[in-house]
Amino acid sequence: MSTIDEIKNRIDIVDLVSETVQLRKSGKNYTGFCPFHSNTRTPAFVVFPETASWRCFGQCNEGGDIFGFVMKKEGWDFSEALRNLAEKAGVELRPLSPTQQEEAEEHEHLRKLLEDAVAFFRHNLLNTPAGNPVLDYLHQERGLNDRTIEEFGLGYAPNSWEAGFNHFSSKGYSQEDIIASGLVSVREEADGDDRSAVYDRFRHRIMFPIRDERGRMAGFGARIINPEDVPKFLNSPQTVLFDKSHLLYGLDKAKKEIRKQSQVVIVEGYLDVITLHQEGFPNAVSPMGTALTEYQLRLLKRFSRNMVLALDADAAGDKATLRGLEIARQSLDREADPVFDARGMLGNEARLNADIRVTTLPEGLDPDEVVMQDTANWERIISEARPIVIHVMETLVRDQNLDDPKVKSRIANQVLPLIADVPDSVEREAYRQRLARLIKVNERAFTEATVARRPRRPLTRKDSAEVEIRGSRKEDLPIHATPDLLESHCLGVLLRRPELVYKVDRALQENGLNRLSINDFQSGDHQALLQLVDESLKQDHAEPELFVQNSLSLPLMELVDQLLMKTDNLDPNEDKVLEDLVRTVLVLRQRRLYQQIEHIQYLMEEPQITAEDNLVEYQNTMVQYIAARNRLDRALGFYTSHMIQ
Ligand code: UTP
Ligand code: MN
Repeated sequence: MSTIDEIKNRIDIVDLVSETVQLRKSGKNYTGFCPFHSNTRTPAFVVFPETASWRCFGQCNEGGDIFGFVMKKEGWDFSEALRNLAEKAGVELRPLSPTQQEEAEEHEHLRKLLEDAVAFFRHNLLNTPAGNPVLDYLHQERGLNDRTIEEFGLGYAPNSWEAGFNHFSSKGYSQEDIIASGLVSVREEADGDDRSAVYDRFRHRIMFPIRDERGRMAGFGARIINPEDVPKFLNSPQTVLFDKSHLLYGLDKAKKEIRKQSQVVIVEGYLDVITLHQEGFPNAVSPMGTALTEYQLRLLKRFSRNMVLALDADAAGDKATLRGLEIARQSLDREADPVFDARGMLGNEARLNADIRVTTLPEGLDPDEVVMQDTANWERIISEARPIVIHVMETLVRDQNLDDPKVKSRIANQVLPLIADVPDSVEREAYRQRLARLIKVNERAFTEATVARRPRRPLTRKDSAEVEIRGSRKEDLPIHATPDLLESHCLGVLLRRPELVYKVDRALQENGLNRLSINDFQSGDHQALLQLVDESLKQDHAEPELFVQNSLSLPLMELVDQLLMKTDNLDPNEDKVLEDLVRTVLVLRQRRLYQQIEHIQYLMEEPQITAEDNLVEYQNTMVQYIAARNRLDRALGFYTSHMIQ
């Protein structure tokens, strides 16, 4: 279940609304006085537990879900609502909340400072005596050419405690900003105003600028020159711009090629990414010494769903570190242990509907060494990438005595739970057969029943098929298409073709109808996405689709993935897509309106109401509804009779 759905599931709308509105049960639903408009004597506010929604049938005539309710009540935007409701629901929002993300957008001056730092380190590499041997090292020992060094902005941090700080101060940056950029560290027990209290974080190191996927500076990775120094790699500390769990080294330069080849290769090392790029394999990226996060995988999935993990031989094959299917790599001087957790990866693969494969590097070699020796060998290694489950089974059987029944059983017990996690039944069956052959047992020895299936999130290939709404006429819309499916369909299309908003608006207005608005959507997350689509069209910094993608927090990314999955084979004929979209909006409005008319009739018949209250408010709303219904019916009639050949 997605984070947003989880929050919706955990919060009872009746409880939530009851915190501010006194509700009275009325049939299946609850009524009360609308908290959003005053001087009313009619309890025109209704909460529908079945659909977890609310609506005011009086003056304001608005409705929505729990998100919409708190947004309207507190004046919050979607991200604030998300944060607050997540907390209320006890659902953890993973790092980088939308607000943090917005904040990150604002730190242009820090990015500028980091760009200046790139130039400073570069100057030190190319134009100073101390930089000379470092440049030689990069050329001779690492085989990098000048073009590559320039392209990746490599530099040298001089062996000094204050050269950097003095340089940036002289350029007019405040100490506060220099600290915030992560370029200097603050001496403990020193008070912040004292200039000598800070010192350069990076000294006598090769500098690797780290940029986000849009190419904006985020921080640095820094490798030792003197083999004695520790740690071997030092990264920027966590700053407003630098979050290791969200960035992937090289993605800004690799993304185009990842899309083109429809494959990303994930290695572990800055120099590996750089060398691969130089040698003609520019679709490689690297995390920064930490295990891959779901956020990073989702980020990659925007460019391709085909991912290859190139694990080094220790990580992939060392039996000593293979504990309970976690293949961990340990090193004391690391900031964190990168962990290849097969089960976690499989979970991600299923949730993201990605294809994640694993390949193993030759013993003792890094990708840069392999590719420098022989590019064909690198190609072969990548082509040998195998599905995670197969990788794990083959690793486990290597050098094992397979005549020993206990060994067989141990391996089977490690692999079977993994197989059970695979969502696709055909794939599962194939893995079972493979395992049986590999450990030489009869496949019947492990039937489905022997392994407890772990509950899985329901977001898989299967439900994308259930929700397809691509009919060219109204009758083709599945009868059971609830407003939520119609909403999802609209958004799935608009996320792919934001500029269709204009055309939809025109079509609606030509029919005397209001433009598309967030009120067409009941669900707060859908409303937030429509707003983003609108904003994406009003800016000119990025392609609208990219703008939307780049502005998403993880929970919304999850939602967008689901929505996009449902519309991944749109009709190539743009007119058809538009027509279908307009019709979906019309049907969406029509269904909601019919529902509302039904509800209001029911409300008006309630004995308490007719007895106690005047009906004027309801009657006014009813008149509006009926007029709107007539307009909609006409428009839909027009659409079904004129548009179908
Ligand atoms: P390696 O130790 O394999 O280094 O760490 P490397 O990239 O192959 O570097 P060379 O070839 O020896 O020059 C792989 C990656 O793990 C992270 C870095 O991202 C590094 O590129 N790492 C490593 C750290 O974050 N901290 C460390 O102390 C070591
Ligand atoms: Mn290396």
